[in-house]
Order: sequence, then C-alpha cells, then structure tokens
Amino acid sequence: MRFDVFTLFPGMFVGVFDDSILQRARDAGLIEIHTHNLRDFTYDKHHVCDDTPYGGGGGMVMKPEPIFEAIEKVLGDDPAQRPPLVLTTPQGRVFDTDMAREFAQQPRLAILCGHYEGIDERVRTLVTAEVSIGDYVLTGGEIPAMVLVDAIARFIPGVVGDPGAPHQDSHATGLLEHPHYTRPLEFRAMRVPDILLSGHHANIERWRRNESLRRTLKRRPDLLRQVALSEADKNFLRELGWVESPISNV
Ligand code: ADE
Repeated sequence: MRFDVFTLFPGMFVGVFDDSILQRARDAGLIEIHTHNLRDFTYDKHHVCDDTPYGGGGGMVMKPEPIFEAIEKVLGDDPAQRPPLVLTTPQGRVFDTDMAREFAQQPRLAILCGHYEGIDERVRTLVTAEVSIGDYVLTGGEIPAMVLVDAIARFIPGVVGDPGAPHQDSHATGLLEHPHYTRPLEFRAMRVPDILLSGHHANIERWRRNESLRRTLKRRPDLLRQVALSEADKNFLRELGWVESPISNV
C-alpha cells in the first residue's frame, strides 16, 4: 500500500516512519510512505502557504493554491483517477479500528495534514474523507496522519509478524484484550495464573475470553453493546453483575 502525506512539516515524519515495524514494512516493500512538502508547490520567493482570514479574526488559514497544485501534480488532474484523500481535522469522523481496516483495503491513500486555524474551505472539494483522532485539538494534523498510517499499516498482511494479531487486538474484536504474561513465572510475589501453564488450549482460550469480557465490562462497558456475545459470554458477564441492555447495536 502506498501512502502520500501532504504536509507543511515533512521533518516531523522523519524518525517515526524510519524505525521499528513501519521501517521493516517499508524495507519489505509492504508499504511505501511518500511525504510531500506543500511549500514545494508555491511560486513566490518565500514559499508562503498561509494567509490571514477574510472577515478578520485571529490565526492563519492554509491557502488553497499550493494544496491544489500539490494534489494535482502528485495524484493527477483527474479526480476520478485519484486515490482517496483524507484530511486530518478535529471536525472529522472519529477514527476507529473499522476505519483503519477499511482504508487498509485501498492500494493507495493520500493524507492532507491540516494546520493553523484551518484550511481554506475550497480545499474540501478535493477531500474524500475528514478524520479526527479524538475530541481534542492538536497543534496540527501531522501527528494524526502518523496515527492513521500506523493503525492502517497494521492491517496490511505481513506488516505485523503474526497475521492474526491485528484482528485479535483490543478493539479489533470489539472487546479489550486479555492480560498477557511472559517469564519469569513469579515476579515480586506476583505469579502467572496457573491456567496459562496448564497446556489445555480450550481452557486457556475460555480464560482469555473471560478476562477480555471482565476488562471490557470494567473499563469500557459501552463496547459490550456493540459486540456479538455467546451464551457463555453472557453467563460469565452476568456473574460479574452485568445487566444486558435492552438496546443492542448488534
Ligand atoms: N488536527 C488538530 N487536532 C486534530 C485531531 N484531534 N484530529 C485530527 N486532526 C487534528
């Protein structure tokens, strides 16, 4: 999958994409990440990409010309032939695991990082989706773009060592993930649960499912309304005091 990131601050991406799992995925040819500096698509001496807002008020607004120029040069003149273009903005739909999985189906995805007070409204005619990473405002859309690339890349086969892992993680199953343990067996008087040493695969799976349910009920009970629960799941939750909501989204 190819990512094209349009930004005023390409330097922010250096390091983040050059280490660990993303770098390995790039080396393996599973993903390509191209950053494009919007300043390279200006024609004035100072490479200005922002201007004051019409109507007055504080802050600066990203100018439309460099953005249109960059998108048309890099993604092509024909909107029908372009990959989807995501704008990172706190006004967008809140990013989640389903969106990450969906974007990961695309062979190519472009991301435009919003900045300053906002972008000129006419830029929205280029954009196919607006995405927020949460209900708070960051200094710019670069960190959200990194979050998107990282979360989407994990769903591309081969990027994460264990192909099943992204689909078993917290949120991917609709539940929070069960606890994990590794050696040593006992650490500062805290022992690994015996069931994990039993070698009994079915029992271990049931324990993990139950601990997932327990954790989700405690921390994110809202998620339980959106997940398919078996009778065994429901019985376990009831033992913990869960009362089934009459309104289910499943
Ligand atoms: N830009 C600033 N804040 C943001 C957010 N929460 N999500 C996406 N883009 C942003």
